[in-house]
Amino acid sequence: MNAIELLKADHEKVRRLLGELTDTTSRAEKTRTQLLEKIRIELDAHTTIEEEIFYPAFREAGGKSDDEEMYFEALEEHRAAGDLVLPDLLATDVTSEKFGGRAKVLKELIEHHAGEEEKEMFPRARELLGREQLEALGMRMEERKQELLAAGPAMMEQLKKQLSTQGPAPRSLQ
Ligand SMILES: [Fe+2]
Ligand SMILES: [Fe+2]
Repeated sequence: MNAIELLKADHEKVRRLLGELTDTTSRAEKTRTQLLEKIRIELDAHTTIEEEIFYPAFREAGGKSDDEEMYFEALEEHRAAGDLVLPDLLATDVTSEKFGGRAKVLKELIEHHAGEEEKEMFPRARELLGREQLEALGMRMEERKQELLAAGPAMMEQLKKQLSTQGPAPRSLQ
């Protein structure tokens, strides 16, 4: 799989998981918890391979100010999803009314971001990076992704421990 095919396949998977999550109700405690864990691991692996491998290759090959703009906007969207919206959702009681709204905001943010990558960044990357480079990047990304996915459940345990030693979540997140 070349780099773009791999990233698109990830997008499809995360879109599907987020669709399932936003279709649940506050009674589906177990399903919500399981889906959320899968989404967190997938999103984390996906944004990491983009930031470590794909985006730097894109930036290096690009040269126009539009390419730089696209690069920085993408990073900010990762930050909004991964550092702000997702941690909020992880700290929200899955049986609460707020959870559904927050899950929807995450879904909208990811859909917007993945849509922009697919419509703007990936076509431009195809122009900038040749077939061979896209294949080579895809292989490196696949390898790195497997490593990250294998580490995912252990990281989740660590996060849960951190959250439990920090005491209850702030009121706004309950
Ligand atoms: Fe991205
Ligand atoms: Fe992406």
